[in-house]
Amino acid sequence: MKVLVTGGAGFIGANFVHQTVRERPDAQVTVLDALTYAGDRSSLDGVAGRIELVEGSIADAPLVDRLVGESDLVVHFAAESHNDNSLDDPSPFVQTNLVGTFTLLEAVRRHAVRFHHISTDEVYGDLSLDTPDRFTPETPYNPSSPYSATKAGSDLLVRAWVRSFGVQATISNCSNNYGPYQHIEKFIPRQITNLIDGVRPRLYGAGLNVRDWIHVEDHNSAVWTIIEKGQVGETYLIGADGETSNLDVVRTLLEIFGRDADDFDHVTDRPGHDLRYAIDASRLRTELGWSPRYTDFRAGLQATVEWYRSNDSWWRPAKAATEAKYAASGQ
Ligand code: NAD
Ligand code: DAU
Repeated sequence: MKVLVTGGAGFIGANFVHQTVRERPDAQVTVLDALTYAGDRSSLDGVAGRIELVEGSIADAPLVDRLVGESDLVVHFAAESHNDNSLDDPSPFVQTNLVGTFTLLEAVRRHAVRFHHISTDEVYGDLSLDTPDRFTPETPYNPSSPYSATKAGSDLLVRAWVRSFGVQATISNCSNNYGPYQHIEKFIPRQITNLIDGVRPRLYGAGLNVRDWIHVEDHNSAVWTIIEKGQVGETYLIGADGETSNLDVVRTLLEIFGRDADDFDHVTDRPGHDLRYAIDASRLRTELGWSPRYTDFRAGLQATVEWYRSNDSWWRPAKAATEAKYAASGQ
């Protein structure tokens, strides 16, 4: 089977490519990635001889048409993915997340190629801290940031292309991922690399916001489950019951590093900061028989800390510029 992976040099896409090469020798993988600041060719070093990496944009219609025409399946990870960046400049988010997804949809329509669209729980907005409510596939869309609004729009494009043109697509909306190869602008790797450098972690606001953490390997095993067993036209929520406050994440990291529990700083909060995300993944578990393997969050964090300790050369070149950008907005 020929699989086109968009955004395969980014965090989740690169892990997906590694997992696919490791576990599915029948899959012939081509990665289409624009290698933006978030994409890193070296994230695919371990599989370099086994895959093809094409540098280009998902909004480049002729390129996309050719690559999709040569594929049996497209797994679409490519996106501008960071909320803080979308508040600074929403324009690449519209271009990649909306125009790029539209370009892919037109190509899979022309060539009748199976499509899986990777999306986020953020399309549902946020939940309050004091209810047991969780997101389900029936939760109304209510995105808060330019990032989540463009992801919501891309989901709706996929749904319309399924209904109007009979495109063979599935959608998954996953919660916050952690694990190897995550860009150090994101919360967990930012704090890990700060702690490696002896710098105090930075918590936005009071740190009470809750995210529903899932290991990236579990996200990707769920994606393959949906591709193989999911019903075309359907949306599946992916989560692993990992609700944790940002404060608790920082405290666990401080404990792993042998630092004092209060050895962190509160910094300027994110405008419009979503309070809480929580996924009800019962459909994926009961209908498709998926379950996560990484159920011990502390152990997963410890392994992630070890990965960043052992891969200084992967993240170090981006650290100073990433922190300078945060410092400019008081974060
Ligand atoms: P990332 O920012 O680490 O990687 C994105 C990749 O897309 C990069 O390699 C980048 O170079 C590439 N890219 C950007 N614009 C492109 C373009 N125009 N054409 C081709 N490639 C382009 O993102 P991630 O965290 O790996 O997220 C991957 C997908 O998963 C996104 O669709 C995101 O919305 C979704 N998602 C992420 C999370 C999370 O916790 N990180 C959770 C749920 C869903
Ligand atoms: O829920 C899925 C989403 O998770 C994905 O769709 C996004 O692509 C991904 O970036 C992530 O979005 P978040 O905004 O939740 O992730 P981020 O890592 O930016 O922040 C996680 C939480 O930590 C959030 O409440 C903000 C907070 N935070 C973040 C940073 C960078 C801090 O407290 N301090 C920080 O330094």
